[in-house]
Amino acid sequence: MPIEVKNINKSFISKKNDQLSVLKDINLNIDDGELVCLLGPSGCGKTTLLRLIAGLDQPTSGEIIANGEKVVEPSGDRAVIFQQYSLFPWLTVLQNVTFGLEMTNKGSKEENIETAERYLTRVGLIDFKDSYPHELSGGMKQRVAIIRSLLNHSPILLMDEPFSALDMQNRHKLQEQLIGVWKRFENTIVFVTHDVDEAVYLADKIVIMDKNPGRINKIIEVDIERPRKRDSKEFIALQESIVENLDMVE
Ligand SMILES: Nc1ncnc2c1ncn2[C@@H]1O[C@H](COP(=O)(O)OP(=O)(O)O)[C@@H](O)[C@H]1O
Ligand SMILES: [Mg+2]
Repeated sequence: MPIEVKNINKSFISKKNDQLSVLKDINLNIDDGELVCLLGPSGCGKTTLLRLIAGLDQPTSGEIIANGEKVVEPSGDRAVIFQQYSLFPWLTVLQNVTFGLEMTNKGSKEENIETAERYLTRVGLIDFKDSYPHELSGGMKQRVAIIRSLLNHSPILLMDEPFSALDMQNRHKLQEQLIGVWKRFENTIVFVTHDVDEAVYLADKIVIMDKNPGRINKIIEVDIERPRKRDSKEFIALQESIVENLDMVE
């Protein structure tokens, strides 16, 4: 069991000095190699929960165990991919992507370049491999950063709405690639989204959250075969049943 979230409560002190309960009694088990989506409206505590799992912040009570150890600080075993990306401005697109591969020392330099080029080709960025980040649009930069993270080989990937700023076509492409990388490297992935379609496409397990205070409403096991077809009956049926039960009004 790589991640166990046990009786987590998290409060912040508000500006008026009140105690603001953001997460209440969160219990969640994530299996080895599982792809779990946290789905819920803005403000329900998804980012807060991900930050706790990452070790970037500490719970008010309860504990999180990752790979058998209590989470007390960030670790290279749990890579975090946030909504905002940063590329190294002094490296080219190709160098940015191979950077992660070189850090883990897997494969030869040539193999790493070949892998990076293959992924850049798939997202239509191969012609920009020698460009620098400032020469790219925002969406292009995001795609580069996502590929770099995907190829990072972290056993646990924590992703906070990584595709939310992309247009639909690129979002779908990256979702497909995420599944490809996940199958190949068998990472455990916790993926935050407020998009029902994205959760149904990606997840083994969807954790539906409510807000005020943030809590788990329901956990749904998704056993739709992959690759999933958005126009299949079972896909649409699950999507509709989630939408009905989800209070996404913000
Ligand atoms: N550092 C903080 N201090 C005070 N309140 C915070 C802090 N971080 C988050 N919150 C509050 O916690 C709630 C949940 O935030 P967040 O985890 O970002 O939700 P989500 O990612 O689901 O949109 C929000 O009401 C937010 O204002
Ligand atoms: Mg968030």
